[in-house]
Amino acid sequence: MVSARSFVTLSTVCFYLTWLSMVGSHTDVHSTSTRRTWNQAIVMAKSFVQHLNLTEKCAMTAGIKGRCAGNVLPIPRLNFTGMCFQDSPSGVGDGILYATAFVPGIQIAATWDRDLFYKRAVAIGREFQGKGINFALGPMMNIDRNARHGRNWEGFGADPYLSGENAFLYVQGLQDQGVVATAKHYICNEQETNRIYATQNLTYIRSYSANLDDKTMHEIYLWPFAASVAAGVGSVMCSYNEVNNTPACQNDKTLNQLLKGELGYLGNVMSDWGATKTGVQSALGGLDIDMPGSDGLMGISLVEEVRKGKISESRIDDMIVRLLSPYYLLGQDQEYPTVDLDRDVLENHYQVNREISTAGIILLKNTNNVLPFNVSADKHFFVYGEAATQSRHGFVGAGELQHGGATYQGGGSGYVEPTYAIDPLTSLLLKSRDAHLQIRYITDQSDYLLIESSFRYHGFHQAKCLVFISAFSSEGFDRLDLLPANDGNLLVRTVASHCANTIVVVNSVSQLNLEAWIDHPNVTGVIWSGMPASEYGPAIVDVLFGDYNPGGKLVFTLAKKASDYGTDITLSFESNYVEGVFLDYRHFDKNNITPRYYFGYGLSYTTFSFSKLVISKTTVDQQRRIRSYANQGTSMLFEPVYQITFTITNVGKVYGSEVPQLYLGFPTEAAEPPKILRGFQRVYLSAGESKTVTLVLLQKDISYWNVVNQKWTIASGNYSVWISTSANSVDIKLTSFFQI
Ligand SMILES: *[C@@H]1O[C@H](CO)[C@@H](O)[C@H](O)[C@H]1NC(C)=O
Ligand SMILES: *[C@@H]1O[C@H](CO)[C@@H](O)[C@H](O)[C@H]1NC(C)=O
Ligand SMILES: *[C@@H]1O[C@H](CO)[C@@H](O)[C@H](O)[C@H]1NC(C)=O
Ligand SMILES: *[C@@H]1O[C@H](CO)[C@@H](O)[C@H](O)[C@H]1NC(C)=O
Ligand SMILES: *[C@@H]1O[C@H](CO)[C@@H](O)[C@H](O)[C@H]1NC(C)=O
Ligand SMILES: *[C@@H]1O[C@H](CO)[C@@H](O)[C@H](O)[C@H]1NC(C)=O
Repeated sequence: MVSARSFVTLSTVCFYLTWLSMVGSHTDVHSTSTRRTWNQAIVMAKSFVQHLNLTEKCAMTAGIKGRCAGNVLPIPRLNFTGMCFQDSPSGVGDGILYATAFVPGIQIAATWDRDLFYKRAVAIGREFQGKGINFALGPMMNIDRNARHGRNWEGFGADPYLSGENAFLYVQGLQDQGVVATAKHYICNEQETNRIYATQNLTYIRSYSANLDDKTMHEIYLWPFAASVAAGVGSVMCSYNEVNNTPACQNDKTLNQLLKGELGYLGNVMSDWGATKTGVQSALGGLDIDMPGSDGLMGISLVEEVRKGKISESRIDDMIVRLLSPYYLLGQDQEYPTVDLDRDVLENHYQVNREISTAGIILLKNTNNVLPFNVSADKHFFVYGEAATQSRHGFVGAGELQHGGATYQGGGSGYVEPTYAIDPLTSLLLKSRDAHLQIRYITDQSDYLLIESSFRYHGFHQAKCLVFISAFSSEGFDRLDLLPANDGNLLVRTVASHCANTIVVVNSVSQLNLEAWIDHPNVTGVIWSGMPASEYGPAIVDVLFGDYNPGGKLVFTLAKKASDYGTDITLSFESNYVEGVFLDYRHFDKNNITPRYYFGYGLSYTTFSFSKLVISKTTVDQQRRIRSYANQGTSMLFEPVYQITFTITNVGKVYGSEVPQLYLGFPTEAAEPPKILRGFQRVYLSAGESKTVTLVLLQKDISYWNVVNQKWTIASGNYSVWISTSANSVDIKLTSFFQI
C-alpha cells in the first residue's frame, strides 16, 4: 500500500475545430506569443527530430531529474532548454511558493457557469506561464462514479456532459495562456484503492482493472477526454489502473485506437508518476513519455530495443514529435519565461477565486427563509465546529491528512499550498464587528460538556446557531465512509436539539450522507460550501448574509444511503462497471430510488418562472467558434443541430441566478437512461428581469454510441426535451420534443 507521505513524494503528481459560443463568448486571449496550427507545429517538431541521433531521441522518451515534478531533457545544441511539467489542476502545486490555491474542480463545476470555467483556467494558466512551466498536470476529469473516491474533489462530478464542458473550457483557458494542458487520468481511474500495488521487492506490480463495455466507455468515461481533444489539448496522462485487464499506459485499445485513432488526438501521452509498467510494450501501446522517468523502462533503454528490431525508429520519432508539437503549437519556443517555480505570480487572482468560491456554494435547505440573515433583525449567533476555524496543523499538513479545521481543498498531488486562507470564523468575527452582532463560538469538538453549557448562556434561545462540519479526502486512498469528520453528525444533532434555528454548513470533498439530521425540525438551513479554497470565509459570509444570492448546483446526487448509488470502490482487483451508462441520477431514475437531493439541485433567495419553449434547427455559422489549435479532424460531431430557446424571469424580490438544465429523453433505439443532461446555462437576473436563453444541441449530444457499426448514431423517433432546475422530474419547468 502507498502511504500518504510516500505517495506525496513518490507519485503525486501523479473534428472539426468548432465550438459553440452559447450565450456570452470567451474572447480574451491574454498571451501574445504566436499561435500555430497543429500542422505547422508538427512540421517544426519533425524538423527538430531530424537533428537528433537515436540516443538523444530515446533519451527524450523518459523524464530526467530536475527542479520540476517532471523534466524533459534539454538539447542545448538545438537551443532546446527542455520542458518543465508541474502539478496541479487547481494551481501550481508540489509545495512551491507564491501560487494561488484556486478552487478545485468539484467547486468550479458546481458553479455551472461557463464564463467562470474559462476565467478560472485563464488565471491558472497565467500562474503556470509566469513560473515558466511548460505543461500543467490538469485538468482532472475522471467521473465521480464512486462517492468514496479520494480524488473526486479534483474532478467535475458525476456527469460526462458537465465534465466535458468543464474540460473543454479549462483546456482553452489554459492553452490561451501558452501553457500545455494535460487531460487526466486516462482512463477509468475512479478509485485509489489498489490503483498500484507493488510487493515489497518492487518487482511485481499490479493495479485494479476497470472493466467496462464499449457503450459505457464512449458515453460516460471517454466523453470529457473527447471534449478535451476537440479543444486542442496537448497532453493526456495515462492512469495507474488497468482497463479491461490491460494497464492503461500500455493499452493499445484505449491509447492507439480510441484516443489517437478515433478521436484524432495529435498530442502526447505521458504516464502518471510511476504508472509505467513495461518499456517497449508501453511505447508500442501508445505511451510517448515515461514520467518521472527514474524507472529506466523507457528512455535510453529503448536504443537497444530499436537495434533488436523490437520497435521501429519511426515510432520513436513519432513519440518525440508528439511530445514537442504542443510546445510549438503554443509558441513556447518564443521567449517563454525561464523556469522559476517560486516566482510571485499571484497578481490579484484572489478576486476571481472569491467569485468562483461564492458562485459554487449551494443552498440545500431554507425553511421559512431563515436565510439570508438580516443584520437588523438577526443580531445574535452561536458558532460550533472545528470546521469553522483553522486546522491546528496549518496549511502544509492539510495536503496530506485530515487534521480537522476548515477544509479548503483535498490532499495529494492536487493540493496547492495556499499563501493564505481565511476561515469562516474569522470572517464572521469581522462581520460581527462591522454590523454590531453578538457572536459566541466553541470550536473544540472534543468537549461536549462545554458545548452543552453554551445552551445555558444568556440569550441562547433567541440566537441563530451555525454548525460547521467537513469531510476531507486525498489522492492515494479512498474514504472509509460518507460521514463528516470527528462525528460532525453528533455535533449537529446536539446543537439542533437545543437551538430552534440551526444552520448547517457542509464543507465536503464530495458526496456526504446528511440523513442523521437533515429532517430535524430545528435544522432550518443547510448550505453546501463544498471545497471553497482560500476565500472560504468571505464567500460563506456573503452567502449567509445575502450579499451574494447562492446559485450553485450539485454535481452529484446526495443519496439517502450509500448503497443507493449502486456503485462503489472495489477491494478486489476487478472493478466491474456493470451499471453501464446508469450512473448517478441515471441510476436513481431507472430504479425509481428517491435520493435526498438530486444532481443539479440548488436553491436561491429568489424564484424564477419559465416560458415560451421553442425548438428549431440551427445554422452552423452562428454557433461556431474556431481556435487555431483545436485538433484537426473531419468529424461533424461537434456541429450544432438544434437550438432550444425559452424565457426565464426572476419573479422574486432580489437579484439572483438560476441554472436551467436541458435533459433529453432518447428514442428506444438508443437504449439510454430516462433522461440525460445535454445543456445548461447559468443565468443572472435582477428582480423582475426576463432573459431569453438559447441552448444548442450538437450532433454528438443527440447521438448514441452504436456498438455494432462503431459510430455515433442519431436514433430515429421521439426525443423528449425537458428544461428543469435539477435531475428531479418534479423540477421540470418546460417540456417539448422533436422527432427524427
Ligand atoms: C548522439 O549525440 C550525443 C550528443 O547529444 C553524443 O554524445 C553521442 O555520442 C551521439 N551518439 C551517436 C551514436 O552519434
Ligand atoms: C541557437 O541560438 C543562437 C543564438 O540565438 C543562434 O545563433 C543559433 O543559430 C541557434 N541555433 C539553432 C540550431 O537554432
Ligand atoms: C519478487 O516478488 C515476486 C512476487 O511475489 C516473486 O515472484 C519474485 O520471485 C520476487 N523476486 C525477488 C527477486 O525476490
Ligand atoms: C430586516 O429586518 C428589519 C428589522 O426587523 C426590517 O425592517 C427589514 O425589512 C428586514 N429586511 C429584509 C430584507 O427583510
Ligand atoms: C428544537 O429546539 C427547541 C429549543 O428552541 C427545543 O425545545 C426542541 O426540543 C428542539 N426540537 C427537537 C426535535 O429537538
Ligand atoms: C414525444 O415526447 C413528448 C414528450 O415526452 C410527448 O409529449 C409526445 O407525446 C411524444 N410524441 C410521440 C409522437 O410519441
